[in-house]
Amino acid sequence: MENRDGRRCIFHIRLFAVSRLASVVPYALRSAFFFGRKSMNDARKKITIPDILKMKRDKRPIVMMTAYDYPFARLVDSGGVDAILVGDSLGVVFSGHENTLSVTMDEMLYHTRAVARSNPLALLVADMPFMSYQVSIEEARRNCGRILREGNAQAVKIEGGVNISHVISSVTSIDIPVMGHIGLTPQSVHRMGGYKVQGRKEQAKQIMDDALAVQDAGAFAIVLEAIPAPLAAQITEKLSIPTIGIGAGPHCDGQVLVIHDILGLCEKYTPKFVKHYAELAPAITDAVANYAAEVRSGAFPAEEHSFN
Ligand code: KIV
Repeated sequence: MENRDGRRCIFHIRLFAVSRLASVVPYALRSAFFFGRKSMNDARKKITIPDILKMKRDKRPIVMMTAYDYPFARLVDSGGVDAILVGDSLGVVFSGHENTLSVTMDEMLYHTRAVARSNPLALLVADMPFMSYQVSIEEARRNCGRILREGNAQAVKIEGGVNISHVISSVTSIDIPVMGHIGLTPQSVHRMGGYKVQGRKEQAKQIMDDALAVQDAGAFAIVLEAIPAPLAAQITEKLSIPTIGIGAGPHCDGQVLVIHDILGLCEKYTPKFVKHYAELAPAITDAVANYAAEVRSGAFPAEEHSFN
């Protein structure tokens, strides 16, 4: 009996050793990948809001990109961006909704925490979702504070211009850094009657007024979405805070895009301002199809994927 227990014990030790080895090997491979990231990032340091402001003064383009989860955040940060945006576009891109209006505070906190766990060197900015800042100043302050305290972001992004500048002013007065967002503001989709270029012709003055109001309210930077390039250039020239464009031409102080868009993962629709830097959708579909075929044919798992 003792003998059998002893053998069982040795068997368990061996099984433990094999399973440790199995779990360590892929981990080692993964950490080799992330070590690569670390050494690449060794030359970089954590990017702060004063760094972003200085980039405008030094005329160095600011690169911002979305991430909604931990693995993408690591990859995006490894790519060397200056700011990561947990955009409420996750409602559309990640959750499959028609628009961003249904995104909740809980969802934004969940995704922001996941991204923050990657400890990015990039500045971490998170969107304030629809109805989290419009009802009252008190709610706006509390919800913005939650994004910093519970989500571990370093700044929030708020959509709106003149109409929302009183909120930005109140939130920044308690030292919560705000990035503004004007032009095509997706949370105003129903007012705009769809996702349309804003600020053409007589609308241009309103967009300029919005930009100035957001700056005067204390925002440290401002996203300009889908406005004519000459108007974005004028705003960029006039403001002392950095402008970050998306569909706003080449004269902004920086650019932002949605990661799923640049990787060719959103097959439904590609806006004019998006450039694909990879075509991952067919690569992923092919990989899954190969896996399915190998499981069905018995080719996977092979001996090297099995335990003795
Ligand atoms: O929600 C988002 O991803 C955004 C950017 C595209 C600017 O607001």
